[in-house]
Amino acid sequence: MIRSVVRGTGSALPRRVMKNAEFEGRLETSDEWIAQRTGIRQRYIAAEDETTASLGEAAARAALANAGLTPDDIDLIVLATSTPNNTFPATAVEIQSRLGMHHGFAFDMQAVCSGFVYAVTTADAYIRGGLSKRALVIGSETFSRLLDWNDRTTCVLFGDGAGAIVLEAGEGEGTIADRGVLAAALRSDGQHKEKLYVDGGVSTTGTVGHLKMEGREVFKHAVGMITDVIEATFSQAGITAEDIDWFVPHQANKRIIDASAKKLGIAEEKVVITVDQHGNTSAASVPLALSVAVADGRIRRGDLVLLEAMGGGFTWGAVLLRW
Ligand code: ACO
Repeated sequence: MIRSVVRGTGSALPRRVMKNAEFEGRLETSDEWIAQRTGIRQRYIAAEDETTASLGEAAARAALANAGLTPDDIDLIVLATSTPNNTFPATAVEIQSRLGMHHGFAFDMQAVCSGFVYAVTTADAYIRGGLSKRALVIGSETFSRLLDWNDRTTCVLFGDGAGAIVLEAGEGEGTIADRGVLAAALRSDGQHKEKLYVDGGVSTTGTVGHLKMEGREVFKHAVGMITDVIEATFSQAGITAEDIDWFVPHQANKRIIDASAKKLGIAEEKVVITVDQHGNTSAASVPLALSVAVADGRIRRGDLVLLEAMGGGFTWGAVLLRW
């Protein structure tokens, strides 16, 4: 039975760190308010020469180095992003070119903050379906370009960055002891559009637009949606929360993460938190957090790892994998 196994991880952040205190004086906000309500202490903000493609390329190169591979070994790139370099071609194709790859195929996937979970699920389906042997799955975003920097209710929450994994076809017996993607569940429901969206677009205003969010409304739905979709992966795989070694959630708000872990019965010490360092980097947040926890030695081969995300749309999803 073919399983999609993680072979390497990598990440990339813009050069510039922006601490909460930098908002003070410009906006009616404070380090204390931001840290208490969200857990965020700082975020990274891309300079003009740092783009979704350049950050994605750097994360991809780091993941390839970590895997001991070169672009020649890759036949598929799936990039999760809502902040592409251009309307078209897909930024995944630009990253393919930057990597010097002229074989295989590449495309973008847009599910906002759930993008990486959607992209892993998609790459896994291509691998199990025989269309790819080894895929780069990247989440890269420059959300700073979508923010209204005068709106304190949104601009303090987001940051820029990229993370990537290499997924490759491996064999397994079909048990939960096998390495690789074990279960996945995806959901979306467009009736929630007004709660989190960008008020511009090619086919409507012809502008990029700004991110708009009813934060309290998003918060209200988040925990229930997240825990439902995670429980769907638990029942697919026949496991319980106690079997999880590491929970790597989308990093939007520490209070949402804590409430979700508590509702599921996942112990606090098993939860990977990077929202304090990176803010909400949308589709990049899960692979960034993964790569931090792999690099510092927490996530090891054989661990049962749970990924989860929820975002604009709404979209939401979870992936369960044996590292
Ligand atoms: N500094 C100071 N005060 C602020 C700030 C700020 N940066 N932002 C809002 N406030 C004020 C509000 O105006 C409000 O004032 P009022 O009571 O006078 O009206 C007060 O603080 C409380 O506002 P709430 O919105 O109720 O605060 P809440 O505790 O809900 O925290 C937050 C807001 C952090 C946005 C929270 O609701 C949240 O995290 N929501 C979920 C966001 C999320 O998870 N998004 C994920 C998806 S992102 C994606 O898909 C792209």
